[in-house]
Amino acid sequence: MMADQRVVLVTGASSGIGETCARFLSQRGHRVYGVSRRAAGASNAGDNGVIHLSMDITRDVSVKQAVGFLLQREGRIDIVVNSAGIGIAGAIEETSIEEARTQLEVNFFGVLRICRAVLPAMRERGSGYIVNIGSIGGLIAIPYQGLYSASKFALEGLSESLRMEVKDFGIRVVIVEPGDHKTSFTENRRPTDESSGNSPYRDRFHRAVARMAADEQSNPGPERVARLVYKIVTTANPRFRYTVGPASQRAAVLLKRIAPYSLVEKVMRGHYGV
Ligand SMILES: NC(=O)c1ccc[n+]([C@@H]2O[C@H](COP(=O)([O-])OP(=O)(O)OC[C@H]3O[C@@H](n4cnc5c(N)ncnc54)[C@H](OP(=O)(O)O)[C@@H]3O)[C@@H](O)[C@H]2O)c1
Repeated sequence: MMADQRVVLVTGASSGIGETCARFLSQRGHRVYGVSRRAAGASNAGDNGVIHLSMDITRDVSVKQAVGFLLQREGRIDIVVNSAGIGIAGAIEETSIEEARTQLEVNFFGVLRICRAVLPAMRERGSGYIVNIGSIGGLIAIPYQGLYSASKFALEGLSESLRMEVKDFGIRVVIVEPGDHKTSFTENRRPTDESSGNSPYRDRFHRAVARMAADEQSNPGPERVARLVYKIVTTANPRFRYTVGPASQRAAVLLKRIAPYSLVEKVMRGHYGV
């Protein structure tokens, strides 16, 4: 192993932001393990050098097994990038508790599971980076993606607390908040069951989701997110929060900080056609 080669775990590495981060870090000489559900068991390094492992972040056993395997093989994990995530779309009224739980199970409890699994070894070594992929939708709520936004707002809170708790153990916790990027997230977004059929929200829902899809697919792919993650994990003392994405969406974050909320709401309702 090269002296400065670090062991990296990236969740959601089969697609989009996770896949791009895993490839980018691997190409820069790090030893990268990429996990996702679709990876078939432990596989040897593929074309881009990333070693794929099967893991479902919603299952305790699956997380423990994969992290245990990695620690046994490498003796340490230096960097974790929590990118695995899903999006469920629907009016809040038309989102079942089960669907809401599914959303939180991946985007929030999945990250918590990974953190709990990797922290003991990081704490013992007195070092580590945990980079959580949040969302601008976790700073400004998106209509008809309320449970998605709730999961990412929750991730903000978890990340803020965790950062304070583990700082003295030499572990850096950072949240990256991307705006829209072109990935498979758009085609993987699932409508809630009650969104179909004769919903009173139907027209607004379809307008909002069409807008989200257009925003995502008209923007560049996630290379700039990967570059940012690389910069973060090669910085001794990274900031807590990094927003990345289209200028208009980063401006909306600023607007929410300085303007009355009524103005932000007007802008959001207008943008999503609701
Ligand atoms: N794209 C955007 O515009 C955007 C904007 C802001 C934030 N984000 C955030 O960025 C992250 C990545 O999104 P993306 O755009 O890269 O989406 P994507 O292309 O749909 O990739 C999602 C990844 O998550 C994995 N995943 C989903 N459920 C999983 C589970 N239970 N266990 C393990 N892995 C799981 C998927 O792999 P398998 O299906 O094989 O498990 C896939 O690799 C998400 O947290 C998302 O909220 C995306």
